[in-house]
Amino acid sequence: MFPNYLYMKKTINEALNKQVALEAESSHIYLAMASWAEKNGYQGVANFLYQHSDEERIHMLKLIRFINEREGSAIIPSIKQPKDNYKSLIEIFHDILEHEVYVTNEINKLVEITLKEKDFTTHHFLQWYVSEQLEEEALARQINDKLKLIGDDKMGLYLFDRDLGSMKTSNENDSNA
Ligand code: FEO
Repeated sequence: MFPNYLYMKKTINEALNKQVALEAESSHIYLAMASWAEKNGYQGVANFLYQHSDEERIHMLKLIRFINEREGSAIIPSIKQPKDNYKSLIEIFHDILEHEVYVTNEINKLVEITLKEKDFTTHHFLQWYVSEQLEEEALARQINDKLKLIGDDKMGLYLFDRDLGSMKTSNENDSNA
């Protein structure tokens, strides 16, 4: 008989699958935003958001592989069509911040479940997501502040777009997921 400490409880498996679905949805949302930005002449913003969408997919993959490694069962979710029309960059980055705050809350709930279930392996695994959310939220707030300063200034928006095109969405560790 194999020791059973590696096996994942159903509660944990279900909670992680919920997070898989949320990361997939995030990737889709950022993909739709990137496409809008590209169609509206903001190539730098589009590059940034395409990259962000890829990273969310990596977050999803990391969860799927962890669930399966622990003898759980990862479920690949269906994804609803995201909003595809925006009034402005301000609306896009406002929505991003709101979405990331929501994701952080969901990660925190997950961490709480792992403590309740005494699943310390999953608890440890989730610490990567806790740090990632901290970074993503901070970056989203920083970009929102910048956009508030720029307002309707066309030159400001041009430079903003140019700068964002070369900005990293997150830390390099994402590629190691
Ligand atoms: Fe994977 Fe932006 O949360």
